[in-house]
Amino acid sequence: MRVLGISGSLRRDSHNTALLRAAGELVSERGVEFEVFESLKSIPPYDEDDDIGESPAAVARLRQAIADADAVLFATPEYNSSIPGVLKNAVDWASRPLATNPLRNKPVAVIGASTGMFGAVWAQAELRKVLGATGARVAEVELAVGHAHEQLDPSGHPVDPAQQDALRDSVAVLLGELTHVEMAA
Ligand SMILES: Cc1cc2nc3c(=O)[nH]c(=O)nc-3n(C[C@H](O)[C@H](O)[C@H](O)COP(=O)(O)O)c2cc1C
Repeated sequence: MRVLGISGSLRRDSHNTALLRAAGELVSERGVEFEVFESLKSIPPYDEDDDIGESPAAVARLRQAIADADAVLFATPEYNSSIPGVLKNAVDWASRPLATNPLRNKPVAVIGASTGMFGAVWAQAELRKVLGATGARVAEVELAVGHAHEQLDPSGHPVDPAQQDALRDSVAVLLGELTHVEMAA
């Protein structure tokens, strides 16, 4: 079993990437492989004319990484009350062809952090909506880390025990979806 992590931030010291890696530790503790997708920056802007035949290399890597994963965990920042463009662009590529896209029926969950008060709640809500449109099975998890520069330690672990529990719960719910899928198969 394997979970793919995708961070919506390209920033080297991203709070979201750190939070994602902290979530990944919890995934690994449960005996499930965890890998972060590292090539978001290489994905070109979506162009339907380029989405014919062989896809650009980074897009092929993204589609394959999602296809090879049993579930995907997203951690997203919020840019201007919405999803960062690079992340939306990646999901747009991953969503085609619509009927057979690798996100279809894939258990996914969204968490997020921002340096503002609200912890990227709007971006998370929009990402859940977009993922739903791709046909992914969006897990009902909730973790919005506001004031991330104070509320996450340098390795991305929430300092607030309630948020530590929320992170643990988010991972448990996503992994619970995997068991569902296994049992249904
Ligand atoms: C272009 C831009 C727009 C932003 N808009 C918001 C916003 O709407 N709401 C918010 O809470 N933070 C906003 N922020 C602040 C981000 O939450 C903050 O930069 C955060 O650390 C980004 O996530 P990262 O650390 O994972 O890169 C914005 C930052 C940038 C660069």
